[in-house]
Amino acid sequence: TRVEISLTINGEARQLQVAPWTTLLDLLREQLDLTGTKKGCDHGQCGACTVLVNGTRVNSCLALAVMKDGAEITTVEGLAKLSGGNGLHPLQEAFVAHDAFQCGYCTPGQLCSAAGVLSEGHAKSRDEIREAMSGNICRCGAYTNIVDAIEDVMQ
Ligand code: FES
Repeated sequence: TRVEISLTINGEARQLQVAPWTTLLDLLREQLDLTGTKKGCDHGQCGACTVLVNGTRVNSCLALAVMKDGAEITTVEGLAKLSGGNGLHPLQEAFVAHDAFQCGYCTPGQLCSAAGVLSEGHAKSRDEIREAMSGNICRCGAYTNIVDAIEDVMQ
């Protein structure tokens, strides 16, 4: 059984045939080859699969693709477009400048989550950034540098 859905993915309108049980994460990675979005735990605990859905942070492993029919999805591959430039998104620049990763596996999720935090605009202090980013686990423990990078862009 397949269901037809429409999604705008990184600014491109797409008509897609998906099985009703396909997660947004599997659609992105397996059907669309957008493998920047990572599968860590596959049950909502690590944040590696974070993407923006209509500008809001979502764990794509927990969302069925059919539930997002009509939505705008931004993955790490499309993040730079959000800032309107041709180069990297300011968060990506800041992550590089602050060495805000080690193995890099969690980085796409960290970046999308940080972009969501910035647009939500609630987190102002360092502690609030840490709290807002607490759903994104970094096995290497690069948290201090990740918060440094986000704080840098926020200023
Ligand atoms: Fe989705 Fe871990 S893979 S939260």
